[in-house]
Amino acid sequence: MSSPTPSAAPPRDGRGTAPMLVLDDLSWSVGGAVIVDGVSMTVDDGEFLAVIGPNGAGKTSLFNLVSGLTRPTRGRLELAGTDITRLPPHRRARLGLGRTFQTSSVFADLSVGANVGLAVQARSGESRRFWRRAAPVGGPEIGRVLELVRLSHRVDALAGDLAHGDKRKLELALLLAREPRLILLDEPMAGVSAGEIGELVEVIRTVHREQGCTVLMVEHHMEVLLDMADRLAVMHHGALLALADPDTAMADPQVQAAYLGDTL
Ligand SMILES: Nc1ncnc2c1ncn2[C@@H]1O[C@H](COP(=O)(O)OP(=O)(O)O)[C@@H](O)[C@H]1O
Ligand SMILES: [Mg+2]
Repeated sequence: MSSPTPSAAPPRDGRGTAPMLVLDDLSWSVGGAVIVDGVSMTVDDGEFLAVIGPNGAGKTSLFNLVSGLTRPTRGRLELAGTDITRLPPHRRARLGLGRTFQTSSVFADLSVGANVGLAVQARSGESRRFWRRAAPVGGPEIGRVLELVRLSHRVDALAGDLAHGDKRKLELALLLAREPRLILLDEPMAGVSAGEIGELVEVIRTVHREQGCTVLMVEHHMEVLLDMADRLAVMHHGALLALADPDTAMADPQVQAAYLGDTL
């Protein structure tokens, strides 16, 4: 067996010695078009990295490569010291990688609490660690996750009845129920009303700080990103144009040219 077992996952407490994520010359072409073009970067354990760039820059495609939805045509990926380049999405998830579920994976006809309960159960079922399997599924864990995303007061509401902002929180809750170490958030504020954004930002901040999750987030709300991100990765035409702290990245003439040259 060359593939790592779940027990190869580093401990959740304390910082690992390996970086959380390494992208090495990661590339993806389809039908002759280069969509992701030789992206190399290292993301530290506990870092909040914002991925920005004009529409069509390849941000979602990059996330698809990291989560395993698509396979790179070239390059390598490492998660906390484990080569995951050839692992399918569910194996990556088991190693601690999570991405927000599509809204369709929320069961609209079930309550918020029942949705989270199913996610907790799924995690318990997939874990091979016996103490996890033996642990009672339900109440306390559902409560903990809902409190984290500030949705406790909606535990009995039907998921389908939630406002956009609360739906996003529920998606985050489903993600957190799996206890990820690294989460990929692709435009979490999309479709969320201006009045709900502030609280969603706070929830994501809590997930990052209190849960110790490493976060990669694509978002168009620049004022939100500049405030939250440790570094910005700027993509343009599939390539990494800049990777630096927010002030330095935004002052980069190449970055400014990319934004002026393309509509956002
Ligand atoms: N499955 C696919 N087949 C062909 N082209 C694709 C596919 N997925 C994405 N693209 C193209 O790749 C480019 C980058 O898309 P995407 O990663 O969604 O960009 P972003 O998320 O930065 O807006 C776009 O030009 C898009 O049309
Ligand atoms: Mg996108």
